[in-house]
Amino acid sequence: MCGIVGYIGTQTATEILISGLERLEYRGYDSAGVATVSEGKIQCVKAKGKLYNLREKLEREVNHSQIGIGHTRWATHGKPEEHNAHPHLDTLEGIAVVQNGIIENYRELREELIQQGTEFTSETDTEVIPHLIAQCLHGSDLSLLDAVRQTIPRLKGAFAIAVISAERPYELIVARQQAPIILGFGQGEFFCASDITALLPHTRAVLSLDNGEMARMTPLGVEIYSFAGDRLSKFPRTLDWNPVQVEKQGFRHYMLKEIYEQPAVVRTCLESYLNPNWHADEQPDFSPVNLGLTAHLCDNLEHIQILACGTSWHASLVGKYLLEQLANIPTTVDYASEFRYSPKPLIPNTLTIGVTQSGETADTIAALEAERARRENLEPKLQAKLLGITNRPESTLAQVVDRLINTQAGIEIGVAATKTFVAQVMGFYFLALDLAYRRQTLSNQRIGEIIEGLRGIPPQIEKIIETQADYIEELAHDFTQETEDFIFIGRGINFPIALEGALKLKEISYIHAEAYPAGEMKHGPIALLDHKVPVVAIAMPGSVYEKVISNAQEAKARDARLIGVTSAMNAQEAAHTFNDVLTVPGVEELISPILAVVPLQMLAYHIAAIKGLDVDQPRNLAKSVTVE
Ligand code: G6P
Repeated sequence: MCGIVGYIGTQTATEILISGLERLEYRGYDSAGVATVSEGKIQCVKAKGKLYNLREKLEREVNHSQIGIGHTRWATHGKPEEHNAHPHLDTLEGIAVVQNGIIENYRELREELIQQGTEFTSETDTEVIPHLIAQCLHGSDLSLLDAVRQTIPRLKGAFAIAVISAERPYELIVARQQAPIILGFGQGEFFCASDITALLPHTRAVLSLDNGEMARMTPLGVEIYSFAGDRLSKFPRTLDWNPVQVEKQGFRHYMLKEIYEQPAVVRTCLESYLNPNWHADEQPDFSPVNLGLTAHLCDNLEHIQILACGTSWHASLVGKYLLEQLANIPTTVDYASEFRYSPKPLIPNTLTIGVTQSGETADTIAALEAERARRENLEPKLQAKLLGITNRPESTLAQVVDRLINTQAGIEIGVAATKTFVAQVMGFYFLALDLAYRRQTLSNQRIGEIIEGLRGIPPQIEKIIETQADYIEELAHDFTQETEDFIFIGRGINFPIALEGALKLKEISYIHAEAYPAGEMKHGPIALLDHKVPVVAIAMPGSVYEKVISNAQEAKARDARLIGVTSAMNAQEAAHTFNDVLTVPGVEELISPILAVVPLQMLAYHIAAIKGLDVDQPRNLAKSVTVE
């Protein structure tokens, strides 16, 4: 979603702004703009569509300004047109503002300003901000910082803003109210951005503003204040990220690179969380898994509730299966956006888990905050215990939960989640094993077997990539012309994988896809089937293998083309049922979701790539969904 970049220092701002915005492209956007200050005037350049349109416009002008703000906009209020792109200016063009998030009371503010004679040039919620700041400054000797500070209490909603002024080309003001903004510290130059990726080429010394904080950035340094006006003492931290992590490294798309990174991600998870000294036959008196969870979070749990959106919701469904089957804890999974407005009855000793790859999804963050708030001041067993699962430990999620599991997937650029999904599922295996050990719901021997299974995953994913890539690419050609619908079916622990396979396909190929528990096919979806609707069945050996095969046969009898995802051990037999077979190494059913998802990611990828679509930035989607 929207991205902010700001710069103040000794270099030409526009180049830094535009390359910063390019690094935020993956978040999703539909227009962009920058504002700089030279010779006492704000220069604002905007363009609809991709950033190269903006770059082209900027190249037509000479601009040596050393201060500026830039923005990529993902339309919420008003169409993705140039006049709605940020930055937005006040009437006299003395103030420029970029904003992420939503100003919920913008209609009232806009009405009020219109009645006072203000003319608006956009339909956005953001434009009220420069007008309000300009009003504060008019005829007063307020500093820019104080004018922004006086404006903020008038704004309702979750937002982050960056502000510059024509008359004060030596300062840039930023503020955060529930939308991320990160400051970067260079030598005589300072940066701000809504995402660390934009800062990585310039500095690794960063500081995240907390809610209710603002900063005044000048070429001499950064001052941080609370909204109440108190000066705060905060220190930057050093990131251990490498800018190369966010390069394509020769792959055609980030999504493909990220699919190929999955074995390495799983290896890092295993190294990070499995206790190497734990051996099942030595009767160890410590957990096989080291997630650093406290007894307060884990002991006496009666219920786990998981809140998530999109792909993270699918990972959570696998998590539910694992937590219930391994640790014997009743577990519910809710869409965060639903839970926010229809919270469940309070159950004592509940652990609430928020799962998000961006760590910023507004619904997930708000649902967790609401859960904390409604349990406050209740008796101890009803109080909130919040755990986060994410690959972005620096994100807002970390500020909201009591404890975080870093899934070790690093940053993911492709909008369609792949490696972060696999890493979230790994996080759930570890959590379920830790809880199973603590609650003694599994024998050490069984825990040891599952761990051995998990250790086998990295080379097994490598094998899938090695043996299936060409086959899947060729198969993908069959679905790029006339196919308009796909059905995915799976059961048990692999039903969420059917959901994820369908989501991947629709997100990037724009082919309509639905997923059903295989047994539900005959209760409706089967009516859709004919030779034009391919059916993908996840048929991994285990408790429901025969059932899925029978359900697949029902689809075949309706002329559907059947694609099976099954284990190499069953491939020959499966060839009797399926028209096309995608094979993964044979593993026990409990481990199979992580392998079964890989060919589905690859199938979606190749269909979209052959169709020539924008795989990494599919239309209308955003990587970091910071609005409701
Ligand atoms: C967006 C992304 C999806 C992601 C979902 C939830 O829609 O495009 O890939 O699954 O948000 O995001 P989260 O960051 O909370 O996992």
